[in-house]
Amino acid sequence: MAGDFQDFIDEVLEKTDIVDLVSPYAKLKRVGNRFQCLCPLHNDKKTPSFSISPDKQLFHCFGCGAGGNAIHFVMAKEGLDFMDALKLLAERANVPFPDTRSPSGQSAAKHDKKKRMYEINKIAARFFFDTLRSEKGKAGLNYFKNRNILPKTIKKFGLGYAPDSRGGLLEYMSGQGYSPKELAEAGLAVLRENGSYYDKFRNRVMFPIIDVRGNIIGFGGRVIGEGEPKYLNSPETLIFKKSQNLFGLNFAKNDDSGRILIMEGYMDVISLYQSGIINSVASLGTAFGEEHARLLKKYTTHAVLCYDSDEAGQKAADRAGKILLDADIKTRVLTINDGKDPDEFINKNGADMFRVLIEQAKPYIEYKIDKIKQQYNLDDNMEKVEFTQEAAEVIVDIKSRVEAELTVKHLAEELRVSPEAVMAEVENVRRRKSSVEKIREVRQVEKGARVGASPEKFKLQNAERLLLSLMSEKNVFAAASDKIQPSDFTVDLHRRIAQIIYDTYNKGNTFSFNDILSRFDSAEVGSVASILADDKNVANKLRAAETPIDIIVAAKHKRRQNELVSDGNLEELEKEIQVLKQRKGGV
Ligand code: CTP
Ligand code: MN
Repeated sequence: MAGDFQDFIDEVLEKTDIVDLVSPYAKLKRVGNRFQCLCPLHNDKKTPSFSISPDKQLFHCFGCGAGGNAIHFVMAKEGLDFMDALKLLAERANVPFPDTRSPSGQSAAKHDKKKRMYEINKIAARFFFDTLRSEKGKAGLNYFKNRNILPKTIKKFGLGYAPDSRGGLLEYMSGQGYSPKELAEAGLAVLRENGSYYDKFRNRVMFPIIDVRGNIIGFGGRVIGEGEPKYLNSPETLIFKKSQNLFGLNFAKNDDSGRILIMEGYMDVISLYQSGIINSVASLGTAFGEEHARLLKKYTTHAVLCYDSDEAGQKAADRAGKILLDADIKTRVLTINDGKDPDEFINKNGADMFRVLIEQAKPYIEYKIDKIKQQYNLDDNMEKVEFTQEAAEVIVDIKSRVEAELTVKHLAEELRVSPEAVMAEVENVRRRKSSVEKIREVRQVEKGARVGASPEKFKLQNAERLLLSLMSEKNVFAAASDKIQPSDFTVDLHRRIAQIIYDTYNKGNTFSFNDILSRFDSAEVGSVASILADDKNVANKLRAAETPIDIIVAAKHKRRQNELVSDGNLEELEKEIQVLKQRKGGV
């Protein structure tokens, strides 16, 4: 799949001209083989610090440090992540998005294996489901009965029971033609040290986890009554990725209320569904993460966090809320005032009362600010100021200008100060945050050339940068890789770039700027581009590489010698010096 996708990226970039892309934003001026302009990514008033290389299809700004290819430009200009920027350019260039569901990209063997794993899970779910209603499953059925789960709900969610034996499922599956090894790969059996296998889930009620396409990808198993662990989940497998799936989304995605409710537990989702609230999901024994938010965004624009009322639940809601905010999903936080979690609440108060809670749920920002407010005494002016500053840290993250303004206005009224005063605090936070980021970027770029670095160090780090940029030619790599390994580069960023270049050539692939850039996140991509795109305009790259190679090799030996001296290893030191002498004589 990776290969296919790389082809897709390449095609999008081939059909996109970065000069065309930038030109609506700035007046371009041709200077030699480059274009220059005021930087459209930062407030560039005087000197045109933005430069585009049409040959390499890369840009770089000396002012703000941004740099990269067309995708990185769109990321920076539109504030998008890599995938969304790529999609935007793909649309613009009329390149169809590759169907990632098609097996074409992945190896046939892997595809078959996945298919078999889906089958195994499906048959196992059937086995658990049947066992629940058999003589052996009485404990499970009783458990569900005590929790008010109706037979139609058991059927809807395919709930089941794993028998209290070490080989119940293994035996059944082997009768169906599936080996213990396959079962272990699917996360349903465990390999003992002596080479035998046993059932992973025993004497537990079983919750199949179903993806949006309706495949059973894993299971959660709950103990009957008390015991540890309360829930046992399938391990990550070829088809089970906890960070990329949500329990209940297979149903919730079909709801048309325009919002999705996020729960902590499987039982909350099931209980709500049974009461007619069918738009809830839960993460799979892991915290709600960015990938979950991205997944949800395909199906909804609004979310309501319905986490447990205990402190852990509130903390988790806090974190999830921030993730949803960053993903631009309008989020509210629901507060459960009676009981620990939605399941308990519904059992006590019924679904209509829960619907009231949903309507009363506070917007995430308001919820956060209210929580901060509780820590301050607002009759005290000093505390008022501190509260405002802490609230500003929250407001600064609001994406919508309108929402930010309304929040500020509301807060100002409450504090009986002017909205401008509150806004000023928000601007302070913003300025501080952006300058922290700027400094981080500049540091990254100048890691080597910072004031304070010795001239020798400076020379070495420049040599490393130069060599990396010259390595776009394979014969330079061939000459260098004889004597220098990625680990010999002394700057972390250089080391990582070198590793990618070495891997590329060692695999027999050709050097690709875009491939390299795509492996770095937006914080670093500017620095990487500025290293690689630093066109030295030399005719003979191999010749130009000689000096930096010598400098890097010499520094490496010097480090080695220093090590040997400090270790007191004179024997090795002697050898090392001999080798050096011979080498110098030979060249
Ligand atoms: N969980 C888990 N492993 C545990 C405990 C919890 O994976 N040892 C996950 C499960 O997905 C569970 C969720 O966290 O559904 C919430 O846990 P908790 O609030 O403890 O359980 P409840 O959902 O309230 O479960 P129940 O009502 O069955 O007690
Ligand atoms: Mn519960």
